[in-house]
Amino acid sequence: MDKIIVEGGKRLTGDVKISGAKNAALPILVSALLTDGWNTFSNVPELMDIESTKKLLSTLGARVNAENGTVRIDSGGLNSHEAPYDLVRKMRASILVLGPLLARLKKARVSLPGGCAIGARPINLHLKGLASLGAKIDLKHGYVEASADRLVGSDIYLDIPTVTGTENLMMAAALAEGKTILRNAACEPEVVALADVLNRMGADIQDAGTAMMTIRGVPSLSPVSTAIIPDRIEAGTLMTAAALTRGKVNISGCEPNHLQAVIHKLRLAGALIDIDASSIRVSGPEEIASVDLKTQVYPGFPTDMQAQFMVLMSVAGGLSVISETIFENRFMHVSELKRMGADITVSGNTALIKGMPALSGAPVMASDLRASASLVLAGLVAKGSTEINRVYHLDRGYEALDQKLTGLGAVIKRVQV
Ligand code: EPU
Repeated sequence: MDKIIVEGGKRLTGDVKISGAKNAALPILVSALLTDGWNTFSNVPELMDIESTKKLLSTLGARVNAENGTVRIDSGGLNSHEAPYDLVRKMRASILVLGPLLARLKKARVSLPGGCAIGARPINLHLKGLASLGAKIDLKHGYVEASADRLVGSDIYLDIPTVTGTENLMMAAALAEGKTILRNAACEPEVVALADVLNRMGADIQDAGTAMMTIRGVPSLSPVSTAIIPDRIEAGTLMTAAALTRGKVNISGCEPNHLQAVIHKLRLAGALIDIDASSIRVSGPEEIASVDLKTQVYPGFPTDMQAQFMVLMSVAGGLSVISETIFENRFMHVSELKRMGADITVSGNTALIKGMPALSGAPVMASDLRASASLVLAGLVAKGSTEINRVYHLDRGYEALDQKLTGLGAVIKRVQV
């Protein structure tokens, strides 16, 4: 198990290129289950979660090969409808195979994902939506067992605009008979990216990216060759790192439109930000200003950037209030940041952060993916060295973050323990 040691105090400068988006790649790789023949996906990041997805697809009978960020998948040999516990427990997003398996094989047996560090994360809305498309659903022995003679389009209202729930239902409805309306659908760019891929496969999905999308089922879909969109959370993390270290960083290969909420908040914190079609230049302020924020569904401020922004506020000039409205337990990084000297008080879903002149390096423990990133960022501005344990969380979702930061002048080393 690796750990990362960060020596604080360096300003980040230079250029860094953004990788493909984890949360777009996961459903898009899974969407290959809906076709026979070879799909080719490029700009796929090399991450543990991508490895888990490839393993899951192979377990289901798909042929998968990968080279230099390009993953090819042929689901012609799809011969299993079961996503076993051992794979699902490593990656909750495995639940994304439920909709496609039902659509292709009319049955699926998928281990129920448990809770995780950031909250209970139920899948009731995935199941309710699939039931409304005609699936019979049982929960037995820790598994979701779903079957359907046929899937028939339906009018579905999601109580919460769940991201993977919307994706699961889009994939099932793409091959259902007739029209499905998804109301209160998630509008995240990753949902739009999946809809684009499905439409290129021959699906008929309209108004993805709005709260009400329409999916007209088609009898079959065909394989595609396409690239994964850039990772907006990786870009936001590096933008925050630049601001935090009072650095000057050019972030290329990104999609600025997906980052407007983060850009807005970083500007309020004092960062100077220039935007081109696919790059963002961030110059950090000498004095970071305190900014309040509330996480929201897209286009609001992403929950996946909350922990990183909290680090910025920990060294800002005053008081800020951060409210987490998406997940009930996404403040696991707070106790670790406090061990580094941050002054943060949590009450319910709100954190009150009193900016300090500096943080101090300490051994800390990563609890989930974005919390790990926040600890790396904290290490960049801490006095002395910060040792981050359990970095496998980071490797699940950031492609070579330590190397990218090193390329910008950070002093980071990875140690095998
Ligand atoms: N929810 C329900 N019932 C459901 C589904 C969701 O109550 O059936 C609740 C959740 O418990 C949560 C809220 O709805 O409180 C939103 O959850 P959502 O389903 O939108 O999250 P997700 O689809 O499981 C994806 C990303 C997360 C990201 C969230 C929110 C993927 C693979 N994961 O999760 O990414 O935080 O949307 O934007 O796309 C990460 O990358 O670190 C990460 C956690």
